[in-house]
Amino acid sequence: MSKTFHVKSFGCQMNVYDGERMAELMEAEGMAASDKADADLVILNTCHIRERAAEKVYSEIGRLRRDDGSKPVIAVAGCVAQAEGAEITKRAPSVDVVVGPQAYHRLPELLRKAAAGGKDALDTDMPAISKFGALPKRGKQARPTAFLTVQEGCDKFCTYCVVPYTRGAEISRPWGTLIDEAKALIDGGAKEITLLGQNVNAWSAEDDKGREQGLEGLIRALAALPGLARIRYTTSHPNDMSEGLIAAHGEIDALMPFLHLPVQSGSDRILKAMNRSHTTQSYLKLLDRVRAVRPDIAVSGDFIVGFPGETDQDFEDTLQLVRDTGYAQAFSFKYSPRPGTPAADMDDQIAPAVMDERLQRLQAQLNIDQHAFNMKSVGRRCDVLLERSGRKAGQLVGKSPWLQSVHVEADGAAIGDLVTVDLVDAGPNSLAGECVMRKAA
Ligand code: 5AD
Ligand code: SF4
Repeated sequence: MSKTFHVKSFGCQMNVYDGERMAELMEAEGMAASDKADADLVILNTCHIRERAAEKVYSEIGRLRRDDGSKPVIAVAGCVAQAEGAEITKRAPSVDVVVGPQAYHRLPELLRKAAAGGKDALDTDMPAISKFGALPKRGKQARPTAFLTVQEGCDKFCTYCVVPYTRGAEISRPWGTLIDEAKALIDGGAKEITLLGQNVNAWSAEDDKGREQGLEGLIRALAALPGLARIRYTTSHPNDMSEGLIAAHGEIDALMPFLHLPVQSGSDRILKAMNRSHTTQSYLKLLDRVRAVRPDIAVSGDFIVGFPGETDQDFEDTLQLVRDTGYAQAFSFKYSPRPGTPAADMDDQIAPAVMDERLQRLQAQLNIDQHAFNMKSVGRRCDVLLERSGRKAGQLVGKSPWLQSVHVEADGAAIGDLVTVDLVDAGPNSLAGECVMRKAA
């Protein structure tokens, strides 16, 4: 088998997590990480959520051919692998292995098959046994922040979305394995853990005493682990925001005041066509309840413009919802028809020029709101977890509790330190802070 490998992940944070687990798996096989240009094995961990994701993968595969005509062993993993399956090796014969997001624990076996000249090095099963149980234990983290997948898949079937098809049905990982993995991450140096799931707030499982727990129960148990300073979670669906989870935002100090709660559109007509099963009113009421227990919470969202049938008025309603909410940050996208999803076959697909114009207007509003949120933070004193060095010498960059990037003069502090800072200045994308003191995390 190959000696060195390189994993390139596209798409969401869960793909980043999966990419890290694949790297650990390859290391457990005795391989070493290396640059893409000279790795013996390149794993492309792909995303299928929007526009031309598959096209990007094919052009990336083409670029892997080297000047001397050789090529690395190529594995295509992730959501394009799941969606396209054997089509990939038909279109790109240089691909050796195709493996879906629920089967990547079998990568070593598939690579051996491919090395033996096997034509069946493809696995897009969604096996009943969990891949997590088959992966090596987590090792040392290079960073103070870590991801932990607690829930995967989606049963909601929004009409635009491929996730229920690529990631499968909702599953919750068991309590004990999550506590163990969190402990390993903390032992490895993590001070902050972000719990990941496509519907993370739908997570539920029995705890070690056989009691049914929701996400807030897991957060409470993690908050009690020594050494863990911060907990975040993403992505949540409005309909799974339980009373208990809302209350947790007022009760658990380690739970950061940040909520990524996508709404997608501010028009009830469009929300219905999207099969979102909530309304703009129910969404705004939900935010009121969260703000009642945690008034400073930073709210983030996802938006799609140009869903089939979206009128000028529907779009104006989205802008109104954005203004009413005051997002601390948000992601916004042009609708992209995904093969096999109901919306792809709907009438009234919106012209690209209309989508462009709406996206620009929406993003202009979201930028104004993000800047306003940052400006409101100036004058506050807060903790910042330092994550990387800044562009200027002696400068470190970290995150505020509200997930804003904050630049501080290092002043003896190091990456991984939790420092108390006064926020003194704000731009649209980051803030400047002055270090008040270094805290023991
Ligand atoms: N087109 C555009 N955006 C999409 N998203 C999901 N599917 C599509 C699609 N077909 C966006 C949603 C989701 C985020 C992860 O990606 O806003 O919340
Ligand atoms: Fe992309 Fe969705 Fe797959 Fe994440 S789960 S990689 S966003 S298609």
